[in-house]
Amino acid sequence: MPRFGTTWHLPGTAGVLVVMTSTEQNRTVLITGSTSGIGAATARALAGQGWRVVVTGRDRARGQAVVDDIAGGGGWAVFVPSDLTAPPEELRVFASEATQAAGGQLDAVVHNAALCPPVNTVSLSDDDLEATLAVNIRAPHVLTAALAPSMVQRGDGAIVVIGSWMAHVGHPFVGLYSASKAAEIQLARSWAAEFGPAGVRVNTVSPGATRTPINEDSGDVITQMTANIPARRPGTPDEIAAAVVWLLSGQANYLHGAEIPVDGGITATRTQ
Ligand SMILES: NC(=O)c1ccc[n+]([C@@H]2O[C@H](COP(=O)([O-])OP(=O)(O)OC[C@H]3O[C@@H](n4cnc5c(N)ncnc54)[C@H](OP(=O)(O)O)[C@@H]3O)[C@@H](O)[C@H]2O)c1
Repeated sequence: MPRFGTTWHLPGTAGVLVVMTSTEQNRTVLITGSTSGIGAATARALAGQGWRVVVTGRDRARGQAVVDDIAGGGGWAVFVPSDLTAPPEELRVFASEATQAAGGQLDAVVHNAALCPPVNTVSLSDDDLEATLAVNIRAPHVLTAALAPSMVQRGDGAIVVIGSWMAHVGHPFVGLYSASKAAEIQLARSWAAEFGPAGVRVNTVSPGATRTPINEDSGDVITQMTANIPARRPGTPDEIAAAVVWLLSGQANYLHGAEIPVDGGITATRTQ
């Protein structure tokens, strides 16, 4: 059940008691791929709403920087390293470590980490093929299977999948990435059907072309892609994070299995 009126000590404010009244205060969330880009922005945004955030990724330095940033702003975060190409048994160990780091309970999971090898089908290496399938599909599946049951048991929880506008178009580049995003979006619909009746809401936020490290080598492509869309520009990580914050809030309680395109209108208006 949502926790109301929690009283706790903010980091760096010894002796100062803060009374939290919103349903989001003191709830816990694991955000995969939160060492960078959209995931890091989502970590900061959710921490700003009082969520206790488990930051994860392979890069400890970037992860710790996100944690320090959140703590500096009066929020709560902890870094737990993960390599989502790991086999299922190691992912289950990570799920357990993340739960313990959160204080023994995770109220929400954001499946955000993804790989997008910048090549076409013919050029994709076998290693990149395996890693993309592992990070983009296998890891969210294994982590959900590990973490959803306790949410179901409590009758309360939420899962957000970060999809992509590219799941809805045929593109001559990054075909496997697009297909993996379509698979994640479909998993979210299936999880909504599987876990929704037990009180666990599952939804997708699908960003449009957004400037982050995942596409930093494709700057001109991002500019071209967005030049004629309704928003006339790429998205920002903060704009994507805002949709996740809303989906995890009590204001979105009636959303199950939905996909929210935060894409400047690219999916709705794309003509080629
Ligand atoms: N940017 C866009 O235009 C755009 C558009 C549509 C959808 N999206 C989606 O938005 C999400 C975030 O993308 P982004 O643009 O923010 O990308 P990003 O800045 O490159 O971040 C990707 C994150 O995934 C993590 N990651 C990658 N491989 C990993 C692995 N093997 N194990 C654990 N973590 C791993 C990275 O952490 P480490 O490097 O620390 O491992 C990093 O934190 C993705 O799901 C992407 O598909 C992005």
